[in-house]
Amino acid sequence: MQDKILKFLSNNDGYVSGQDISSSLGVSRQAIWKSINALKERGYKIDSVRNKGYRLVSSPEYLNESSIKSYMKNKIIGKNLIVLDSVNSTNDYLKKLGSEQNCESGTVVAAREQNKGKGRLGRVWQAKKDDCVMFSFLLRPNIAPSEVASITPLAGLAVCKAIREYTKLDCMIKWPNDIIVGRKKLVGILTEMSAEFDAVEYVITGIGINVDQAVFPEEIAHKATSILLETGRHINKSEILACVLGNIENEFIKNDLKLTPASIAEYSDMCATIGRSVTFQRGTRRISGMAVGIEADGELKVMLSDGSICKVSSGEVTVQGIY
Ligand code: BTN
Repeated sequence: MQDKILKFLSNNDGYVSGQDISSSLGVSRQAIWKSINALKERGYKIDSVRNKGYRLVSSPEYLNESSIKSYMKNKIIGKNLIVLDSVNSTNDYLKKLGSEQNCESGTVVAAREQNKGKGRLGRVWQAKKDDCVMFSFLLRPNIAPSEVASITPLAGLAVCKAIREYTKLDCMIKWPNDIIVGRKKLVGILTEMSAEFDAVEYVITGIGINVDQAVFPEEIAHKATSILLETGRHINKSEILACVLGNIENEFIKNDLKLTPASIAEYSDMCATIGRSVTFQRGTRRISGMAVGIEADGELKVMLSDGSICKVSSGEVTVQGIY
């Protein structure tokens, strides 16, 4: 009942009368009043004005399931939503659900805190409780393992669009999948998969968005930023998560989980790597060149000093002027 009332209030900007809520939900005004009080106890600020009704002023600051659901319109991604107070890693938790409990495609696990958050290339992802929006989603796509490469760029595109839409920040994508503002990283994305020979069992994409950090540890302060640092505002974490999940669902459905010429064009427009000098590893060699575009399969096209084109599919790329 509380979730339904929240959804009702979030979908209306002004006051909603108790009568309207009670007739829409088919319950007594007394029951509405009780649920509203329970919501207030859970940290929701709700104005109640005689003869006008109720208005949702703000939601609790921390990520929570009913608040996320009240903002979410998705049909697939997040239909099955699990929000944890604390977990080792949302990717690992979801991996277990995927393997041992056969959880459905679209399942999302979010957490307020991770004790063993994982980054790309064996790194760690660290954040204090409630500083970061951290979540993972699982898909069971009917594609070959070689096609999984499209998932991360599509997720990157969706997250970049969602953050632009929600915060108005001019964020960009650092190929392959960091979201940056200026020269600093705002979002990290880690995709993992379980596959057998030519069939994908599931793909898990984990996303960490720096939201409320006012300072970063000294070692990363020069290359990390948060929405708070960039906008001066504490945003609603549940609402931005719902917005990101909405964009992910749109992007994946629109493109049928594939990189299309249109999605590559959009990705390229938002990609800060293109047009810059880059350095990457090939075997034991460090190679430098100019990033000139994105291939149809999401690889980065780099022009070397002799004019030849080299394609980079993964790994660490250092971008001059970024990190
Ligand atoms: C990177 O930039 O290196 C990728 C970072 C990915 C972090 C997210 S936070 C939620 C999910 N769970 C994890 O353990 N990692 C990802």
